[in-house]
Amino acid sequence: MSKTSGAGQGVIVVSNRLPVSLECAGGTCHSSPVSGGLVTALTPVLTVNKGTWIGWSGAPDVEGVDAALRLFSQETGYTLQQVGLTHEQIANFYFGFTNQIIWPLFHDSQFECNFNPDYWQTYLDVNALFACKTVESGNADDYVWVHDYHLMHVAKYMREAGDNRRTGFFLHIPFPAVDSFRRLPWRSELLNALLEFDQIGFQTLHDRRNFIQAISILAPHVKVTGRGQVVTAKVGGRTIRIGAFPISIDYKKFYRTARSAVVRKQAQHVHSALPDRKIILGVDRLDYTKGIPHRLHAMQKLFTRYPELRGKLSLLQVVVPSRATIPLYAKLKKEIERLVGQINGEFSEPGYVAIHYQYKNLNFEELLAYYRASNIALVTPLRDGMNLVAKEYCAANVERNGVLVLSEFAGAAAQLRNGAILVNPFDVEGVAAAIHQAYMMDEGERRKRMDRMRESIRKNDIFKWVDSFFASAFAP
Ligand code: F6P
Repeated sequence: MSKTSGAGQGVIVVSNRLPVSLECAGGTCHSSPVSGGLVTALTPVLTVNKGTWIGWSGAPDVEGVDAALRLFSQETGYTLQQVGLTHEQIANFYFGFTNQIIWPLFHDSQFECNFNPDYWQTYLDVNALFACKTVESGNADDYVWVHDYHLMHVAKYMREAGDNRRTGFFLHIPFPAVDSFRRLPWRSELLNALLEFDQIGFQTLHDRRNFIQAISILAPHVKVTGRGQVVTAKVGGRTIRIGAFPISIDYKKFYRTARSAVVRKQAQHVHSALPDRKIILGVDRLDYTKGIPHRLHAMQKLFTRYPELRGKLSLLQVVVPSRATIPLYAKLKKEIERLVGQINGEFSEPGYVAIHYQYKNLNFEELLAYYRASNIALVTPLRDGMNLVAKEYCAANVERNGVLVLSEFAGAAAQLRNGAILVNPFDVEGVAAAIHQAYMMDEGERRKRMDRMRESIRKNDIFKWVDSFFASAFAP
């Protein structure tokens, strides 16, 4: 648990989504907790200090949500407050501004952006709603910690409403290079709104550098000084801390559960279903930033360039449904399915399938069984803030003999370069060669690399991430 939380600091967490999943019908909603690193790390902080989590329920506002959240709050020991959104707000804010402008722009896919001015206005309106709910919540000395690109204007609107509590912001996705960021029609408004937070956190030093460069070009009156993990910026009379805080996972939870009998059995089952071959694993949300078609092309290249590997190696590709109503995502799904069909048509034989493709959600034990059963993990996003699959794979690799092939454009590469084979995901021949290298790697080398990565993840887990963010936020 966070050391800072023990110091009695009240905290309000603000994020687009609440840490619950709700099923509503006929005016009654049932809630179930959502698991994930952020929830695991922040729950103890909020519970100890009876804090508040403010967010959207994930669906249009209906009767019964507030009652379900009150019940959930009684059970968890901290308060959940929803910001209700209309159908139109969801369309223009969530599916529009955040997922068709900020998401592609910040992931270096600027040509996918739909700079619709209506999206911008709704983004401001929804941020004002979140700010308003925050202003009404908690105690006078609470720390307000806002998460991610959906809510970059919250501190600005809080200040305008006279709420001067300390605020922090953490960006879970990359911050783009200034030449991309400048394409945003509302770049100055967004940058100045971010500068209303007292602390701004990024995943990597690279993202922070991009942000500081954006300041130097678009807000030259702001002076940034200092070196190291956290630097300071002076805006008027205010001091803002700007730092790199790489997010992580609950290492012990992954490690312990991966060793459980249930997971061991399921992993054996996966092995016996795919006998006499090495398993390569890909697990990704359906998203064009994950580079799934590029990865499939790399598999095709692998089997063409190294025909001796046909029949000896299968890719198990799990795609987790996401944002499927956005046309680009629907198109991507079709493209993946077409490529899987094409590659299997070319390389599969009776008793051997080159690519096993699954489009579904996995439960925690299933995911860990896949991690345990795989000899190689292919984590090759074209751009990613961090990519926790890379860290989870290592933590769950209790045999310590798996190989991680990791994109140099994932934030995780900054910490896992000590053991992963780093690749450029756009270079399909390079990725094919890396898979071949992973396949040929001797056990001693695999173990040495995996041990190094596991140790760095163990030492820098999600709890350390919370502590380091708060330590900087509360430093004198
Ligand atoms: O990585 C950013 C993020 O917003 C995560 O927090 C989330 O898991 C993922 O993208 C998908 O987000 P959503 O389903 O809310 O669009």
